[in-house]
Amino acid sequence: MRKHVKGNVSWIGYVDWELESFHGDDYSIYNGSSQNAYLIEEEKTVLVDTIWVPHRFDFIENLKKEIDLHKIDYIIANHGECDHSGALTTLMEEIPDTPIYCTANAVRSIEGQYGKRGWNFHVVKTGDSLDIGNGKKLIFVEMRMLHWPDSMATYMTGDNILFSMDAFGQHYAVEELFNDKADQCLLNREAMKYFANILNPFAPILTKKLEEIGKLNLPIGMIAPSHGAIWRTDPLQIVENTPSGLMPTRKTRLPLPTIPCGTAQNPLPTRSLRKSMPRARIQSSRSSISPSPIRMKS
Ligand SMILES: [Fe+2]
Ligand SMILES: [Fe+2]
Repeated sequence: MRKHVKGNVSWIGYVDWELESFHGDDYSIYNGSSQNAYLIEEEKTVLVDTIWVPHRFDFIENLKKEIDLHKIDYIIANHGECDHSGALTTLMEEIPDTPIYCTANAVRSIEGQYGKRGWNFHVVKTGDSLDIGNGKKLIFVEMRMLHWPDSMATYMTGDNILFSMDAFGQHYAVEELFNDKADQCLLNREAMKYFANILNPFAPILTKKLEEIGKLNLPIGMIAPSHGAIWRTDPLQIVENTPSGLMPTRKTRLPLPTIPCGTAQNPLPTRSLRKSMPRARIQSSRSSISPSPIRMKS
C-alpha cells in the first residue's frame, strides 16, 4: 500500500517489524526497520529503489496494485546492496527494457549479485539530471563510500526532496512515515546508532560531500532515506546534528544518552540551543561493521 509523501511522490516500501539484526548479527534491531522505495508520478513515472530480496514478491504485488508496471518510465538504483536492489530481478522480468539509472559502480554491484542480464543501465555522475516532466527533474549526486563505492543520492527539484539512500536513515519502523510522527527519543537514538554503525568510518567523506551538495545550491525541503523515518519537519536537523554536533572519528566514543532526546510533548531543542550542546563522543564501531558481501574496486 502506498503512502503519500509529498506532491506526486509516494512511499512504496516495506515496513519490516520482524527484522532483528542487520549485517548478519552485528547490528541489533529492536524497533523494526523499513526498506523505503519511492514512486514518483509526474509526466514520467519513476521508481526510486526497491526492497530487500525476501520481500520482493510482496513488493511487486503491492506495486502492481498501485500502478501498471509498464507505466514505469525510469528506475533509479541509488545503491546496489541487496536491501535496496532485492526486487530488481522480479521487476525486470516484467519490464525488462526499462532504463535503470545508477552509478558505474552500481552496475558492477548489481551485475555482481544477479548476473549480467542485459538490463538497460544508464550510468550517471554527480550533476547529471533526468527530466521527469511538469517542470521537474532528478539530479544525481554520487555518494561514493557513503556507505558503499556505488552509493548515490537523488535530488528531486520542485518538491526539493533529497532521496539520500542509506545516509541519514535509521533502522526504526515508523508506520506513519515521518520524523514528526515518530517517538523523538527513539528516532534520535536509532539515527545515531545507525550513523555509528553504518557511516561512522566514512564521516570525513560525509563532511566533504555535504559541502559539495551545499555548493549545488539545492534547497532541501525533505530528506527521504532508504531506512526509517522521512525527515519532513526541520529536515536539516539530521544533517546539522550529524556533522557539526555529532561528528565522530574513529578515536572518539559514543555514549548514546548524550543524544538529544525529545518527545511530542517535549520536542527537541531549537537549532540555536543545539549549537551550544556538548559534542557527543562516538565510539569506534569498525568492529561492528561486517564485511560487505560483495567486493568492489572503488
Ligand atoms: Fe547499504
Ligand atoms: Fe540499506
